[in-house]
Amino acid sequence: MPKATKAAKTEKSHFFCSACGNEETRWFGRCPSCGAWNTAAEAPVAAAGGSAAAGRGPPPRWAPKAGAAVGPAGAGPRPLAQVEVLATHRWPSGLCELDRVLGGGVMPGSLVLVGGDPGIGKSTLMLQLAETLAAAGRRVLYVSGEESVEQVRLRAGRLGPIPESLLILAETDLEAVLEAAAQVQPDVLVADSVQTLARADLEGGPGSVAQVRECALALLHYAKGSSAAVFLVGHVTKEGSVAGPRVLEHMVDAVLYLEGERYQHYRVLRAAKNRFGSTNELGVYEMTDGGLREVANPSLAFLSERRGVEPGTAVVASLEGTRPLLVEVQALVATSFYGTPQRVTSGFDQRRLALLIAVLERRVGLRLGRHDVFVAVTGGLTLDEPGTDLGLALAVASSYRNRPVLEGTLAVGEMSLSGELRRVSRIEARVREAAALGFKRAAVPAMQASDARTEGIEVVPVATVREAIAELLGAKVEVRPPAGPATGAPRPDAAAKPGGRS
Ligand code: TYD
Ligand code: MG
Repeated sequence: MPKATKAAKTEKSHFFCSACGNEETRWFGRCPSCGAWNTAAEAPVAAAGGSAAAGRGPPPRWAPKAGAAVGPAGAGPRPLAQVEVLATHRWPSGLCELDRVLGGGVMPGSLVLVGGDPGIGKSTLMLQLAETLAAAGRRVLYVSGEESVEQVRLRAGRLGPIPESLLILAETDLEAVLEAAAQVQPDVLVADSVQTLARADLEGGPGSVAQVRECALALLHYAKGSSAAVFLVGHVTKEGSVAGPRVLEHMVDAVLYLEGERYQHYRVLRAAKNRFGSTNELGVYEMTDGGLREVANPSLAFLSERRGVEPGTAVVASLEGTRPLLVEVQALVATSFYGTPQRVTSGFDQRRLALLIAVLERRVGLRLGRHDVFVAVTGGLTLDEPGTDLGLALAVASSYRNRPVLEGTLAVGEMSLSGELRRVSRIEARVREAAALGFKRAAVPAMQASDARTEGIEVVPVATVREAIAELLGAKVEVRPPAGPATGAPRPDAAAKPGGRS
């Protein structure tokens, strides 16, 4: 290769982490930002104000119109107060949980990214959204790059009646998509998925960082220029060659993630970013044969699988957006066989657990230094709210002492390093939720006892975690060794080992 071309090439391209979107000028084996291995992908540097293709040849068809809401061709500075506010009505989609997460409905002219693991239900959610919006009279264009028209039709039939104004296009060429959109002029455009779209004039196959960014940018301009609401579906990937949705997070208006354990039926829809509303809101769905169904009372759903009272379980009330969610947490404390005991969590921050364990060790006197501690949150949920500290600590103490938490107890409180319980926000809402679900008592930070008073439930004020453990654990459960073959008896597989020497 001639030297000149090589130099010109390296000048123009950077390396992007396809997992987190981090940009570096040099190739890297491990992303300095997120620590992922083998995720470097070469792509042209984003030119100021947008497309990497800007400045080369005639402006592309999808370039923003002069004066459009976004783009370099603004009308110069002017007094903010004099900017006309167009009355933008949101379109309620009829999927209440999705509407709430979006901040009250679909916003015309917005670009929303819907991310999630493959197979989690993104296409299903988008198709349901497309159906309900079309049924409400909106013109919807569903672009599928992954499935054939027939496949989408089959799925749509399972989800509900298919309105006439729902149009389908199986296409992966971005220009063809924009051409179709210009023709159809939809109110809502769904691109499923952004990783299958590609611009023919750009280097790199579909899914490469460069393609994904350029396609998203073109659709951003389309959304702002046409006032259509555009939804992009993006798979979370761990492969270096395919760019994940995080590469796009900074350029879209809202980022929703659909999460959940693949083999459990609950799905949680969460906003990671939202220019039109709060990011704390969370919607809960259940995957059924007829698509995603909204779970009206998630607390009940997350608790319904409780079987009796076992040591090591506790119920916490996590405030998710405007609503308190009652969730069961489980802890298992076991003698460690390693020099460094393990702290393993699922759905809870590991460092936060380490801190809670240190407080339990120093302020309560639990000797956890020689024990492994495992913590799990039920329902595939992730807890990151400080009000759940007390419940977690109780679960750990309960497992360690082998004494169950008293039946029907909710525990709320943030723990300080001194083991004292701090105030939590909206205590009354959390206690009310527990009362509505038939809980008997709620342990709350002592200083909030009067705020927490609620009809039909006993409020137990606790000042420290030590006090909570003293008051809320029941009688010790004797552990009997599990019934099994007596030790020393030959294992059946050892006796019947085939091919043994004779
Ligand atoms: P899908 O929406 O295709 O996932 P994604 O687009 O995120 O890759 O959902 C795939 C899974 O959902 C698949 O395993 C089947 C299941 N599913 C149902 O259980 N019920 C349904 O009605 C539908 C349409 C899908
Ligand atoms: Mg899909």
